[in-house]
This record gives sequence, structure tokens and C-alpha cells, in this order.
Amino acid sequence: MNKFLITIIICVFTLNFSAQNLKSPSGELDLNFMLDKSGRPYYSLALDGEKVILPSGLGFILKDNVEWMKIDTLEMTNNFKIINVLFESVDENWNPVWGEESEIRNNYNEMFVELEQKESKRKVNIRFRLFDDSLGFRYEFPLQEKLGSFIVIDEKTEFAMAGDHTAMWIPGDYDTQEYNYTTSKLSEIKQKSIEFMEENVSMYRFSDWGVQTALMMKSDNGLYINIHEAALIEYSAMHLKFNPSNMTFESHLTPDAFGNMAYMNAPHNTPWRTVIVSDDARDILASRVTYNLNEPSKIEDTSWIKPTKYMGVWWEMITGQSTWWYTNDLTSVRINETNYKELEPNDSHAANNQKVMRYIDFASEHGFDALLVEGWNIGWEDWFDKKKDYVFDFLTPYPDFDIDKLNKYAKDKGISLMMHHETSGAIRNYERHMDEAYSLMNKYGYKSVKSGYVGRIIPAGERHYGQYMVDHYLYAIDKAADYKIMVNAHEAVRPTGVGRTYPNHIGNESARGAEFRGSKLNHTTILPFTRLIGGPMDYTPGIFEMDPRKNRPDFTPNLNETLAPGSVTTTLANQLGLYVVMYSPLQMAADLPKNYMRFPDAFEFIKDVALDWDKSVYLEAEPGQYVTIARKEKGTANWFVGNSNGYNNRDAEVDFSFLENNKKYTAIIYRDSKDADYAKNPQSYKIENMTVTSKSKIKIQTVPAGGFAISIFPN
Ligand code: NOJ
Ligand code: CA
Repeated sequence: MNKFLITIIICVFTLNFSAQNLKSPSGELDLNFMLDKSGRPYYSLALDGEKVILPSGLGFILKDNVEWMKIDTLEMTNNFKIINVLFESVDENWNPVWGEESEIRNNYNEMFVELEQKESKRKVNIRFRLFDDSLGFRYEFPLQEKLGSFIVIDEKTEFAMAGDHTAMWIPGDYDTQEYNYTTSKLSEIKQKSIEFMEENVSMYRFSDWGVQTALMMKSDNGLYINIHEAALIEYSAMHLKFNPSNMTFESHLTPDAFGNMAYMNAPHNTPWRTVIVSDDARDILASRVTYNLNEPSKIEDTSWIKPTKYMGVWWEMITGQSTWWYTNDLTSVRINETNYKELEPNDSHAANNQKVMRYIDFASEHGFDALLVEGWNIGWEDWFDKKKDYVFDFLTPYPDFDIDKLNKYAKDKGISLMMHHETSGAIRNYERHMDEAYSLMNKYGYKSVKSGYVGRIIPAGERHYGQYMVDHYLYAIDKAADYKIMVNAHEAVRPTGVGRTYPNHIGNESARGAEFRGSKLNHTTILPFTRLIGGPMDYTPGIFEMDPRKNRPDFTPNLNETLAPGSVTTTLANQLGLYVVMYSPLQMAADLPKNYMRFPDAFEFIKDVALDWDKSVYLEAEPGQYVTIARKEKGTANWFVGNSNGYNNRDAEVDFSFLENNKKYTAIIYRDSKDADYAKNPQSYKIENMTVTSKSKIKIQTVPAGGFAISIFPN
């Protein structure tokens, strides 16, 4: 008994001796750092005294990069001593090139802990930044005698949870994020993961306990907790693996073909690990921690980076009415050898001169900036999952796509064509063509490119979210900046605020977008809390015809079937709300022109809605249930409001106190009709005009998977 007591006393003494504390500027968030008896670093986080992260271990398992075939690993998890602790405070404002607001406050207290391992003398520093809504911390390996080039075998960062929270998660996967979200208790992740069946052309689920970030949780006490990362550069993406025995998430990095997680050369830092926390879900959406932890823009002249509203020769391929490929007569293409001019064209190739001109006319008539054309270049006949290195050249148009003529035609009509580079995951092939491909864009006046990474990565064994690919995505963005090209990457790693540093990275998919269809009814009430924490998403909203069969000229209804496979599972009014809810400086009107012409009054909202904002006000939010956001257009007095609703009928409340006092505005409300039903009657909407002031408050009824949008113009 006595012995036991003594041990406890020593332990407490040791902990206290090496414990450090940091408070956020308001004092509400409280971070503790400590070394335990074995010299293992731990941190914990509390909000107003309530535990958010219980003591959680930090550290690494490394390997020497020179003799890496040897089995010996370098344990960097314990035996540390603190050699120095430095404190700093920052309170500054900065202006993003585009964003949810035109000025961002960066206000934090910092604690920089320098650690050294006692015998090995290896050093690692940990930088903690505590904001009023969040914590960010990263590891920094200084240049040192004992550690130069090394391999991360495992990062041992923990996030110990204080309860069995409710989480909104997608399975941990090295190759896809295009999943529906599951809402469950943490302890249920494994069982739900086993039951969860969704396929993708590239996928690798590493554990039934694995989930991806940004992970959104809610505690039984009503705390909203979000875990993600910021500034993922020269490292692999972090997933989380839940350990139910101690209710702790362990970091799980994306490995390469050898199982190595990251290659580092000191001095070098890991990305920031972030925890956003509040008792109000709206604060999670308002947090700017991901951007604040990224470096300022590396691009000096950003005048060519412009928010863009676009249409596309696209949805007809996605819904299976047209093809990306030119001919049905080929089972294999050899770029530079296959002579397309000798082949029989099919009658479904969409990227042909006549059709592209019709789309240009439509986009121009309705005030769009750009038109995406997919399937313009040779190679689509065997485009994916053939493990084919030389799959595209990104240079040669199909015979029916006159690149010169179409770009001139578009330019005359005030439209710029948007380039499309599907890489099919063949990375060397894309990099080998990149300069020429970007030069071709400059030659014809393309301002932006949508890139894509469908299928398994070549070289084999590399993963979409491993370091090799993280380096590639940034290489493509950085090089595009040299050519003044904006990038919108699909199937790339989920963003981590790097768009602050490279603002030409205006779009990213990296989640289940509208193209997947059949999403859960509350999908877009979760994405703002998860995928969008890292940056904008090219969600491709604006679908007015939910049932793809009805786009076919030969459609005859089967009255028994109300929800056809491949349908979009929302109301039309919800689709309008997404232009505000799903923030992006790049927004698409994804449906076919003919469907917009069926509902021209609703199309007006898509034409009016802004892309860039002075201010955003998060009116109502509950992840998985509803999100209502008001945003003020940058440089004007116009406001736009959007709502997305989940599974239940609900009355949303819009309090217009965000408007300027003593001013009258006209509000145009696009809302679900009473009989709107995402499956049976999705196109039942109502448009109402009313005068509003900052004193106005209204209720708007929304149906399951419904929503609304409001344009507000000063009188
Ligand atoms: C997947 C993208 O997400 C989609 O938008 C694109 O049309 C196809 N790849 C073809 O590149
Ligand atoms: Ca995709």
C-alpha cells in the first residue's frame, strides 16, 4: 500500500514538473502539455473546464532513410526531456484572395516546446497554437546531428475522447472519399463499417475502425468537436483509427507501396493537427483555423485568379446519355498511333463542334463565365482501370472538336472554355505532358483546368492520399500558377487550407458530389462540417431534373417507379440553397440547358447568386439536420441565403438582423412548396417576393432533403 502511494506521488510530481499550460486569447480553451514518467509527451484540451481531449500521447516511430532496409526503428515516443518552452501571441487580420469573408482574423496564443530524447539526443519540437475556437499543433524536426533524412513508419498522435460521442464519418480509405456519411456512436464504428457497402473504382479501406477527417462529432453534453489537419504539404494524409478500449483515435497516415508513411528531410514540419470545439455548431462553420494555419499566398500577382460560374458539356455523360469517347470501334487506344480519322464516330460523342457551340450560346446568354468540355481529347475509349501509362496526351482533340474555332467562338461570346485533364491516375504521364498541356491552354485562352484522378494510381502501390500524390497535386497547382491557370482537382486529396498559399487552387472535389446521385437525404447538411472544413468543394449543384431517365427523348414513365436508380435525392429548392451552403469560388450549374429552360424562374437564382463574399453569417446549423447561411456579396450590398435540410420536415427561421439598419431590401424566396417531396414531387417549389429590413424575421417550411434560397437586393 505504501509503495503504491509513493509511486503515485512521484508520478504526479514528475508530471507537474514537466507540465506546461496555455490558454486561448479569451481564456476559454485550455491546453495542457506534459511528459509522463517515461518521458512520453501528452497534451489535453478543455473548454470552460469541460474535457475535450483527455491526455493523449504524441510521438513517432521513425527509420533511418539511408539504412532503411534494416529492421531497427527509432522510437520517438518516450524518454524525452523539455529543453525549452517559448510563448507568443498573435492578433492580426489578413485578406484572402477569395473566401467566405474578405477579412480573416488570426488570433492565437502559441506555445513552442523543444524536446530532446535523453540518450539518443534526437530532437523534435511541438508548436501549439490555441485560438478561441480551436487548437492546432504540429511537429517540427529541426536540423540536427542525429536526424537528417528519415522515414516516418508511424505517427503516434492520439486524440483521446471524453465520451462515446456521436460521429459523422466516412470509412478510412487510402483511395476514395466518395462515400455517404454514417452517423453513429464511436463505439459502433466497426459494426457499421462492416455493414457499410459502397464500391469505388479505387478504394482501400485499411481498418473497420478507420475513419477520415475532417471528422465531426457531438458529445452527449452538446459539445461539437471537429478533427482535421491543415497545410498538408510534403507528407501523407492523416486518417484516424479508433481504439474502443481507451476511446482514443490514433493517427493513421497513408502509406506507400513499402508501407512507409512519409519521407522527411530536416528541417521539416508535419502538417498541423486541428481540433475545433464549441457548444454551438455554427462556430464550427465559422472557424478559420484551417486557413490561419497555412502560409500566406505564394502568388504575388493574383489579379488573374477569378471566381468562376460555369456550365459543362458534362451532365449528359454522367447520366449516361452521351459518351466521352468518340468511337465505339476501339477496345484499346495507342496515343500517336491510333488514327481516329479512319474510325467510325459514334453518334453519342458529346464534345463535338455543334453541341459545344450550342452550350456556349446558352452559357453566354445566361451570363456564365466558363464552359467545361469533357471528352475533347483523344484516349477515352480505354480511359480507366487498364493500368495504362500513356492514357492521354492532353493535347490532341478528337476530329470533331475544333479547338481553335471553338475557343474563338467562346471568346466572342464572353465565355472561356474550361480545360479538362483526366489523368486516370497515371501520374508520370500527366507530369510528362504538363508543360505542353498548360502551354496549349495559354495558346487558346483557357483560364482554368478541371483535373481528375479516376482509378488506381500508376505507379502501382501509390495511393491517392499518400505523400507521392500529395506532392503531385501541389506540383500541378504550383506549375499551373506559372501559366496563370486555376486548378479544380477531382479525386485528389481532401483540402487542408492550402488554397490560402496557392489561391489558384480554386476548386476541389474530394468527396461525394452531386455526380454520385443517390446520396443520403442529409448529405449536404454534413459536408459543410466535414469536407468543407479544409476548403471549397466543386459539388456541382443545380440539378433541376432529378430523374435521369427523364432526360432521354424516348422516356416513357413507369408510374410504379417513383425514384429511379441514379436519381438526385433532393428537392429543386434544396439545389438552389446549395449555392450558398456549399461555399465555393467555383460554382457549376450542372444540369442540362433544356432543364433550366423548363424552370426559368428558378434558374434566375443560379444566375444571380454571387461567388465571392465580404461576410458570412451562420444563421442555423445542426450537423446532419440543417444548415442555413447568409452571405454578403463582395463589394455590393446584395445578400444571399441558402438552406439545406435533412431528414425531417422543419420550419427554418431566418432572422434578417444581418442586414444594414434602416434600409429596405427586396427578398426573393425560392422554397419548397407544401407538397414538395424529393422522390415524388421534387420540382414543386414556390417563389415569393417580399420587402425585408434588419428587423424582419420569417419562418420557412422545408421538407426532407428540401431547402431554400433567398436573393436580397437593396431597394
Ligand atoms: C470523375 C469526375 O469526378 C467527373 O466529374 C468526371 O466527369 C469524370 N471523372 C471523368 O473525368
Ligand atoms: Ca469524382
